[in-house]
Amino acid sequence: MSNVLLVGTHWGDEGKGKIVDVLSESVSGCVRFQGGHNAGHTLVIDDVKTILHLIPSGILRDEVKSIIGNGVVISLEALNKELDDLISKKIKIDNKLFISESCHVILPTHIALDIAREKSLGKSSIGTTGRGIGPTYEDKVARRGIRLIDFFNHQNLKKKLEKSMEYHNFILTKYYKEESISVDDTLNTLMPIFNKIKKFICDVIPLILELNNQSNIIFEGAQGAMLDVDHGTYPYVTSSNTTLSGMISGTGIGVDKVNYSLGITKAYTTRVGHGPFPSELDNELGLNIAKWGGEVGATTGRARRCGWLDLKILEKSIELNRIDGIALTKLDVLDNLESIKICTSYGAINYDTFEVDDLEYIELEGWQSSTVGITNMADLPKKAIEYIKTIEELSKRPIVMISTGPSRNQIISVKNIFS
Ligand code: IMP
Repeated sequence: MSNVLLVGTHWGDEGKGKIVDVLSESVSGCVRFQGGHNAGHTLVIDDVKTILHLIPSGILRDEVKSIIGNGVVISLEALNKELDDLISKKIKIDNKLFISESCHVILPTHIALDIAREKSLGKSSIGTTGRGIGPTYEDKVARRGIRLIDFFNHQNLKKKLEKSMEYHNFILTKYYKEESISVDDTLNTLMPIFNKIKKFICDVIPLILELNNQSNIIFEGAQGAMLDVDHGTYPYVTSSNTTLSGMISGTGIGVDKVNYSLGITKAYTTRVGHGPFPSELDNELGLNIAKWGGEVGATTGRARRCGWLDLKILEKSIELNRIDGIALTKLDVLDNLESIKICTSYGAINYDTFEVDDLEYIELEGWQSSTVGITNMADLPKKAIEYIKTIEELSKRPIVMISTGPSRNQIISVKNIFS
């Protein structure tokens, strides 16, 4: 068996969903291990667009089991909405979706705390998705979180919610001067959804191990390495480990079960939310790249900041994730450019002003012709191949897939990573 870990190498939005969808043709299972509905994976199949936030991208294939590991935080309302959308598209769910009973649940108070905190931070806010992700992970570590397994015992759940939400409401009302949220209203909203989805909840570890014995598995990361709470651009990060270590703690599956680590790298770099971005193009060109690349957040609808490919971050990601090869996405977005830069080095980042010392770039000629939908390396313009080769040489990793458009079939598969 050959299992693949798939992770974003920069600040997320590298196009992981599409690559998972392409690779899921060769797997029996697709496992999410961290984050929550702050993620947004856009998939286009036969011109039909599906945006997944929580459910692994493998769900679009009938023969793939989609598993949500313990490291993911669950919004029951978001899950319900996503399931309804999939059902309306006639996508099979039963016996295909499995959710760990140990997943922590996002409560309405977590969302209110996330929003209140961002508001109070003013200019120095993180720019979170406002989905309650941070406060839910905080409660997990503080040992007052509510897990899916707690919902099976209604009496105990009520007691746990009262205790947990009393604390949240104290901070909400006394510190942030916001309204408190009722436990009864919360239960009335969440219980019917839980009753609808409880058939999907189980201990997922035996299932992952069983699938591992049968066939290939994909471990699907959310966000990107620079949003990792330990290794990213702290404090402008998300609240989980978005790198290899998150896969281990977020599934309970050992690192020995990962045979290939695939970094998903966009042909340029983007970031949504606040925080340092050394190679940012804070100019018209940046806005144009955003326009050509449709760089609008799949989750929040916020415009993404755009810049040149940051090689220094790619190198760090390669280390953090033990990356074996790279899937380069959105190459076609650079089709119009006369010249293209790669950011190769910089000094210290000032975390107050986000200024960076000694930025260094290399510059290559653009190819200025369409690469949209190309499926063979040989059909790419020479200068596009040069760009790809330069990234390979600098990163010392092979580029094994190249995405040339949003659809499933707009892909160059250079190497079969399962063989
Ligand atoms: P949070 O995850 O909502 O707490 O947000 C923390 C930071 O991570 C913010 O800068 C968000 O914009 C960013 N973020 C969270 N999820 C994603 C994602 O899926 N793609 C890109 N950025 C994300």
